Amino acid sequence: LAREPNSLENTQVFEFSITARSGRARAGLLTTPHGVVKTPLFMPVGTQGSVKGISPRELKEIGSQIVLANTYHLLLRPGPERVRALGGLHWFAAYDGPWLTDSGGFQVMSLGDLRKIDEQGVTFRSHLNGDLVVLTPERSIEAQEALGADIIMAFDECPPYPSSPDYLKASVGRTLRWLERSLKAKTRPDQALFAIAQGGVDLELRRTSVLATVAFDTPGFAIGGLAVGEPKEDMYPAVELSTRLLPDHKPRYLMGVGHPEDLVAAVALGVDMFDCVYPTRTGRFGYALVPEGRLNLKLSRYLDDPRPIDPACDCYACTHYSRAYLSHLVRAEEILALRMLSLHNLRYLHRLMEAAWEAIQSRDYGAFAREFAGRRFREGI
Ligand code: GUN
Ligand code: ZN
Repeated sequence: LAREPNSLENTQVFEFSITARSGRARAGLLTTPHGVVKTPLFMPVGTQGSVKGISPRELKEIGSQIVLANTYHLLLRPGPERVRALGGLHWFAAYDGPWLTDSGGFQVMSLGDLRKIDEQGVTFRSHLNGDLVVLTPERSIEAQEALGADIIMAFDECPPYPSSPDYLKASVGRTLRWLERSLKAKTRPDQALFAIAQGGVDLELRRTSVLATVAFDTPGFAIGGLAVGEPKEDMYPAVELSTRLLPDHKPRYLMGVGHPEDLVAAVALGVDMFDCVYPTRTGRFGYALVPEGRLNLKLSRYLDDPRPIDPACDCYACTHYSRAYLSHLVRAEEILALRMLSLHNLRYLHRLMEAAWEAIQSRDYGAFAREFAGRRFREGI
């Protein structure tokens, strides 16, 4: 009974309803066992079960709605079975809102040493102790069930850019067979499994992959294999085609995309969910996201600047600290600088998606996008 991937219990807990539209952009409500979230939304990345430097209380304060964790990292350390014994991610990491886990294939490819892909799965050496580890669709789902996220991802292959047409084609077929195995391996009725389409930037392959993936009728769909170094003008047609072919009434998740301008454009094309390390990583490098682009707080020009990073921002950093102080902290390599810039950058993307939601609700996403583009692409900060 519980082995039925799209059982009744599952579809009752997970519900996606579209509350408003503006062009192809949608505002929606996604119901999960740990809360209802508003889409479009951006998910902070908590690779090791922690958004680097940010506590769950702070995540709630800045409006994070779903937190992402990586199966690859948690598989190697501390081990999914240990997390399960401690109540799953919700209890172990003390964040009781919705979680999403990525399946591990992508991280193996981008981090793992000595990796070998075959029909069975991926074999790689642990970056921690050199142990040989085998990740298969079955093991990934077993691990994701132990971690206990609300949304889990099918085990897929994300080929590097560029890849030969033959390789891309083979990876699309393998990803579909791995999707079927992922669904067969699933036992928990209280988790939603999202399928992932691949196909790189080859539009014919992308079409084949999306259409075949949609046939599995999972409660949500991800657009994978993008934002891996391809030119933006090649990424957008793949996103546009994908959202045109995906079912209207299911959430769409564009994986690994997190630049503000890409969020605004992808929402216009009908994407609902995003994740990326960009806001937290660029924050740790001393950059603060603002409507005009990015402030590099390492520059001496900010050392005497009494203004907040962004006067319109309601985050703790912007309501308490000057650019001057934060610039000093960045130069002194103080932990607080990294925390405050991550906090601000996440809040910036959350506010951006909240403003997008409002604009869609008011049926005028076009005005919002024009306003955003006018500030973002104006020369000279
Ligand atoms: N994160 C960014 N891109 C991808 C992808 O194609 N697959 C998975 N599983 N995770 C990703
Ligand atoms: Zn701020």
